[in-house]
Amino acid sequence: MSAHNATRTILVTGVNGQVGYELARTLQGLGTVVAVDRARLDLSNPDQIRAVVRDVRPALIVNPAAYTAVDKAEQEFDLAMRINGEAPGVLAEEAKKLGAALIHYSTDYVFNGEKDGAYVEDDPTDPQNAYGRSKLAGEQAIAASGANHLVLRTSWVYGTRGKNFLLTMLRLGAERPELKVVADQFGAPTWCNTIATLSAHLSAQAFAAEDSAKWWSERSGVYHLCAGDATSWHGFASAIFELADLPNKPNTLPIPAADYPTPAARPANSRMSNEKLARVFGVAAPHWRDALKLCLTDGFPKSPAARS
Ligand SMILES: NC(=O)c1ccc[n+]([C@@H]2O[C@H](COP(=O)([O-])OP(=O)(O)OC[C@H]3O[C@@H](n4cnc5c(N)ncnc54)[C@H](OP(=O)(O)O)[C@@H]3O)[C@@H](O)[C@H]2O)c1
Repeated sequence: MSAHNATRTILVTGVNGQVGYELARTLQGLGTVVAVDRARLDLSNPDQIRAVVRDVRPALIVNPAAYTAVDKAEQEFDLAMRINGEAPGVLAEEAKKLGAALIHYSTDYVFNGEKDGAYVEDDPTDPQNAYGRSKLAGEQAIAASGANHLVLRTSWVYGTRGKNFLLTMLRLGAERPELKVVADQFGAPTWCNTIATLSAHLSAQAFAAEDSAKWWSERSGVYHLCAGDATSWHGFASAIFELADLPNKPNTLPIPAADYPTPAARPANSRMSNEKLARVFGVAAPHWRDALKLCLTDGFPKSPAARS
């Protein structure tokens, strides 16, 4: 982690994903970014992981790639485990051998959602679905590796590309006069740009540390990194339609999660405290509503209405 940024290489996985795409941009100033897609680095193939890391020889590995199909994971648990549970451990072992560090992403779905307030990092985990179990296994594999690492748990990720709640609402909102949206699950909708920007800040701090070993030994671990404050899916949908530039705005009807059954159970409370992130790194994520506004005004090449 001590090389000058001209000679330092940063390996980013899952470059076509929401967070991966943004990371490939935000990490640019910190070194030579080698951003790979699934074809170049398939996380279900441990031999390929080892070969790519040994070939690229990064100072930092940033791993936003994941099996993220939460409902499908109920049917494909073995594959989800290989990608989310085992691959992060292989990346971490390879990082350790190189003297590199790993930044990895995990999820609010490691919790059961029964807590009253916001979850902190030390709260007991108890995933309620296959995806959450696979992501928790990944966290544990990284911790067991002994590599320098930051595991950043985030929630309800959206952006202007890929598959996410924002794009689904904009599409359905243009098609239907009324939408029923779950109002009894709470969490922080987090813009992928927020995650990438804060990840770059943390990386910059790590690279700037005079004593890299000390920096990592004091900071390696799990952190919550999500937008400020929280809302329900219904609150998120209502804000999207309030803030988006749409010719016709649909009505949003609040419904209980029980009326919208999904193959994978979701926690009722996904709220996570960012307090540790602020205390250790001195960074804060914007309020979810401010980030949404920025995404809707600056994130799209044109206004959402003009895109369709
Ligand atoms: N999305 C959320 O709401 C959410 C919530 C909490 C935490 N997280 C976590 O945040 C991180 C980033 O999520 P995201 O929303 O950016 O995910 P995303 O948009 O679904 O992107 C995931 C990326 O992983 C890649 N991928 C899937 N299987 C792979 C494999 N076998 N080998 C290599 N790459 C593979 C995908 O490749 P293809 O493009 O080829 O499919 C895709 O580019 C993940 O760790 C996720 O678990 C996400």
